[in-house]
Amino acid sequence: MKTYLVTGGAGFIGSNFVLYMLRNHTAIKIVNVDALTYAGNLENLASLEGDPRHVFVHADIRDREAISAVFAEHQPDYVVNFAAESHVDRSIENPGVFADTNVQGTVNMLACARAAWDDGNGGYGDHRYLQVSTDEVYGALAIPEALNADGSPADPEHADFFREDTPLSPHSPYSASKASADFFVRAWHDTYGFPSVITRCSNNYGPYQFPEKLIPLMIHNALHHKELPVYGDGLNVRDWLYVDDHCKAIDMVLASGRLGEVYNVGGHNERANIYIVRTIIQQVREATGDEAITEDLIRYVTDRAGHDRRYGIAPDKIREELGWYPETPYEEGIAKTIRWYLDNPEWVEHVTSGAYQDYYERMYAGR
Ligand code: NAD
Ligand code: TYD
Repeated sequence: MKTYLVTGGAGFIGSNFVLYMLRNHTAIKIVNVDALTYAGNLENLASLEGDPRHVFVHADIRDREAISAVFAEHQPDYVVNFAAESHVDRSIENPGVFADTNVQGTVNMLACARAAWDDGNGGYGDHRYLQVSTDEVYGALAIPEALNADGSPADPEHADFFREDTPLSPHSPYSASKASADFFVRAWHDTYGFPSVITRCSNNYGPYQFPEKLIPLMIHNALHHKELPVYGDGLNVRDWLYVDDHCKAIDMVLASGRLGEVYNVGGHNERANIYIVRTIIQQVREATGDEAITEDLIRYVTDRAGHDRRYGIAPDKIREELGWYPETPYEEGIAKTIRWYLDNPEWVEHVTSGAYQDYYERMYAGR
C-alpha cells in the first residue's frame, strides 16, 4: 500500500486531489499536511470522516521539525506539494508571504524529503516528489490576431502557446515565487539526483474554489446581485482546466512521468474573461429564474497591475508521453461548476463568513 504525503490538501485543488485519489485507488493512504490558512478548509473533506486512508496533520510546510516528524512517522512513498499562497491579487498586496511559503516552504519540503529518502548512496528507491506549479511562470502570450467570439484563437495551428521549453518570465510576485520554487526543484534533481518532477497547469475551476478567484467570485456575486468587477477591458484570456482533469494528470505524471521533467497541463479551453462573466450571468439567471441577474451587474474596474494578457497551453508532451488530455470541455465544466455552487450554499456561506475556520476546532480540538 503506497502512502502519499499531500501538502495543501485542504485547499481547492489539493482537496479535490485527495477526494479524486481516494475515489480512484482503494489501497492507498494519504497524509494531508496543511497549515489551514484562510484558503484551507477541512469542510471540503467532510465526506472522508472516519476513512482510515486519510490522515490530517495540521502543520506548516516551512516547519523543518514538524515536516521531518511527518516523514519519520508515515514514511511516505510520494510527495505532492500543492501548499502555497495562490492568489495573484494578494501577492501584489503582500509579496513577502509568497516568498516565505512558496519558496522557503518548497525548499524545506525538498530538504526533508531528501533527508528521509536518501539511501546513503545517492539513491532514492521508488520515491517521487511532484511539485505543483503554474503556467504563470512562463509570463504572458500575445492575443492572436484572429479570435473566435469566446476569445479562443480562431487559427490555433498558427497561435503561440506555452511549451515546456518556453523561457520562464514571471511578472507577478506570485508567479515569481512559483518560478523560484521550480528552480529549486530542478536544482535538487540536477545536484542531488533527487527524484522530482514538475507540473505546470493552467487556471483550474470546479467545486471548493475559494470565491476570491474569477469563476466562484462571479457566481457568488451574481447570486447576491452584487457588482461583477471585470479588470481592465475584460479581454484577458485564460486557459480553463476542470479540476478533476488536473487531478488525473497529477496521478499520471506521478506514476509514469520522467524524473527531472516538466509537464504542462491544460489546453484547448481558452476563453476571454468577459465571455466567462457573461456565460455565468446567463446560466445563473436560467438556473435560478432570477431576472435581476443581468449584464447590468458588470462593472469594469481598474486593471490589475502587471496583468498578464493571455495564457494558453499546448499539452502535446503530456498527451504524447502519458496519454493525458483535458477531457472536460469548458461548456461542460462551467455548467457542472455553477450547479455545484448552487447546490452548496452552506459551503459558500461558511467560507464567505469565515465560519469554516471554526470547523477545525469543532472536529479536531482535543483529539
Ligand atoms: P489554495 O489557495 O486554494 O490552497 C492552498 C492550500 O495550501 C490551503 O489549504 C492552505 O491552507 C495551504 N497552505 C498555505 N500555506 C501553507 C503552509 N505554509 N504550509 C502548509 N499549508 C499551507 O490553492 P489552489 O488553488 O488549490 O492551488 C494549489 C496549488 O496549485 C498551488 O501550488 C498553486 O500555485 C497551484 N496552481 C493553482 C492554480 C489554480 O487555478 N488554482 C493554477 C495553477 C497552479
Ligand atoms: P484569477 O482567478 O485571479 O486567476 P489568475 O490571475 O491566476 O489567472 O483571475 C483570472 C482572470 O480574471 C484574470 O485575468 C484576472 C481576472 N479577474 C477579474 O477580471 N475580476 C476579478 O474580480 C478577478 C478575481 C479576476
